[in-house]
Amino acid sequence: MRVDKLLGSLGYGSRTEMARMGKAGGIVLDGVDLTDVSKRIPITPDLSSRMEIDGRPLDPPPGMALILNKPLGMTCSRKEDGALVYDVLPDRWRRRDPAISTIGRLDKQTTGLLLLTDDGDLLHRVISPKRHVAKVYRATLARPLAGTEQALFAAGGLVLEGEDKPLAPAELEVLGPTEARLTVTEGRYHMVRRMFAAAGNHVEGLHRERIGGLALPDDLAPGQWRLMMPGEVDLIFA
Ligand code: URA
Repeated sequence: MRVDKLLGSLGYGSRTEMARMGKAGGIVLDGVDLTDVSKRIPITPDLSSRMEIDGRPLDPPPGMALILNKPLGMTCSRKEDGALVYDVLPDRWRRRDPAISTIGRLDKQTTGLLLLTDDGDLLHRVISPKRHVAKVYRATLARPLAGTEQALFAAGGLVLEGEDKPLAPAELEVLGPTEARLTVTEGRYHMVRRMFAAAGNHVEGLHRERIGGLALPDDLAPGQWRLMMPGEVDLIFA
């Protein structure tokens, strides 16, 4: 890909701006000033360690994925008002094309593991109902568990209010009187909250711990994110 096109797609600026930046010595590839921004270079995952823009490593090239520990109060939908999960990312990344989107969504009041990517194939592989990727949530409930929830969810067939397609079986692990871990393989709107509502309870706190075999890293505080490392994508499907 042409360097000016690559940098434009990463949000650094227009072709004219990139030509100016190249001439001014702001673009360095393998330690050498890259003054001709019409040069074509292959997009490889190691490009950020080989290229510097204004003295800083190049942003991750297209085909990237991130892990975010979603904090309370941020929304995943760009259509809603208020703080968005995208606000924690660098400003320039808003101009990336392909754009970065969340892989599925978490409610405003849900915390924990949220993946973001600009890779449409990856996004569809994770959310595709055919793949049955497990999503694991820890729920804090308003009232003590009745004792019937495990069987209710495990049987499958529960129909959520306003829907007619029954849910697939889901696994409930009781962690305490008002604390449970729920593993689901679907991704319906407000699913966990609505499942507990169907069981006569109310979810007060919801935290996603895992997607497939990928757990939220312990060292990622709420609001913190990092690039996914090689192998972590495979863990999702492991
Ligand atoms: N189920 C919910 O109810 N909310 C989420 O954010 C995710 C799953």
